[in-house]
Amino acid sequence: MTKSINLSLLLCLVITAIAYAQDNCKGKANTFDIYTDEPVLVNQTNGGWLYKTGGANNTVHVLHVYGNPYQMGYAHGALLRDQIQQMMPMFMSYAVAAVTQTAKATPSFFPQYILNIIQTEGVLAALDSIHYTTAPYTNIEFYEEIQGLSEGADFDYQTLVRMHMFPELIKASCSIVGAWGQASVGGNLFQLRALDWGIDNPLVNFPTFIVYHPEEDNGNPFSVLSWTGFIGALTGYSQRTGVSEKVWSGYSGSFSYTGTPFYFLMRDIIQYDSSIQEALTRINNAQRTCAIFLGVGSNSTNTLNVVEYSHDTAAVFNDQTPFPGFAPTPAAHPTLTDLVYVDKHVQPSNDPCMAALLQYSYGKIDAQALINIVSLFQTGDLHIGIYDFVGNQVYVSVANTNVPYPNPLNQPMSPSYQNQFIQFDMNKLFALAPPKNI
Ligand SMILES: *[C@@H]1O[C@H](CO)[C@@H](O)[C@H](O)[C@H]1NC(C)=O
Ligand SMILES: *[C@@H]1O[C@H](CO)[C@@H](O)[C@H](O)[C@H]1NC(C)=O
Ligand SMILES: *[C@@H]1O[C@H](CO)[C@@H](O)[C@H](O)[C@H]1NC(C)=O
Repeated sequence: MTKSINLSLLLCLVITAIAYAQDNCKGKANTFDIYTDEPVLVNQTNGGWLYKTGGANNTVHVLHVYGNPYQMGYAHGALLRDQIQQMMPMFMSYAVAAVTQTAKATPSFFPQYILNIIQTEGVLAALDSIHYTTAPYTNIEFYEEIQGLSEGADFDYQTLVRMHMFPELIKASCSIVGAWGQASVGGNLFQLRALDWGIDNPLVNFPTFIVYHPEEDNGNPFSVLSWTGFIGALTGYSQRTGVSEKVWSGYSGSFSYTGTPFYFLMRDIIQYDSSIQEALTRINNAQRTCAIFLGVGSNSTNTLNVVEYSHDTAAVFNDQTPFPGFAPTPAAHPTLTDLVYVDKHVQPSNDPCMAALLQYSYGKIDAQALINIVSLFQTGDLHIGIYDFVGNQVYVSVANTNVPYPNPLNQPMSPSYQNQFIQFDMNKLFALAPPKNI
């Protein structure tokens, strides 16, 4: 009963939003109701649980890991051994081919010294070089975790390390939104992270929502929307802080790999920082590598900042700042109280769609409104995370997982913004006790 009322109300809202957005947006509304079934237990090991959730088209593994970094990596590897052994070789050959092709077609995409290595010694040597230059700036815990992962999965350590360097070599578009105060339902902070990286790659079949339960005195419990075997945080939430990012394509300053890979720094933020201020201190003190926009939301201030983050500088902006470096604010990116957003295009963007949808939903923004917005704007093809800090809920969506990669029969695949979202009650997930030793 309640469900049908909600659904017709939802449809009505969606139809009005479509009418409003028609002139500005190309997408069609996501009309699925949100998937709320409890995750189903699949397996367990010392220091880890493996669950599954979502519909048949978009099944997501939910992995809980406990203990020190090595133990957490080991449990991850042991519980997803088959998937890691299946995915990593596929991913590496995909990645090598993609980088080789980009180096031929658009050499300017890479810094000169990396391009030289790619051209003379190959992509694996370039990944090794990034590993050697970033390792001194990387929290040692990541390498301990990858060591555990390797032993648990019985899979080559060096290949896992190379896989973890790959995101430094690529650039994804993506969108970021933070809405609170006057902009949102109840004034509560809602944060969006929509990852646009294409859906023609081997990651699509292996989405994994990892819930980390670090040992005592080693930071917050936190969650990362990732893929089997990848421990960086492109999309992460800890109830204290949440992170989103997108590439900063307009950046024209200097570039260096001598620093911390950004997805490890993002993970340190959600694990160790309890406020935007702490995250900004970490960002300012870090040796930064590539140029991205980094969204940091925080429960303690109930606000979000976006950092224009690069090797040279870290410029912070909030809802009062004209889009940084682009003052006066472009017409397609109005400054709105209690709302910070960056759309998926190269900035400054002149696509009016996202701002139009945000203005339409202004004062009523919540998880459902953000789901409508991503589907009408068509952002977040590979995956999407929405964080509701006050409710302590995370909503995720992934691209179809039921179509094999590669896709020789050309079966239709839908991007995550068009698929059913899955709701995670983080009160329950963060509180889940470890399995008894077996
Ligand atoms: C369950 O996990 C254990 C590791 O503890 C692993 O050895 C076993 O293969 C897994 N079982 C299945 C059915 O995946
Ligand atoms: C699952 O995929 C099929 C084929 O693409 C589609 O017809 C169906 O609507 C999808 N169901 C859900 C719940 O996404
Ligand atoms: C989040 O913020 C609310 C309101 O300020 C507070 O009551 C709650 O304890 C905070 N939660 C955490 C985990 O800090």
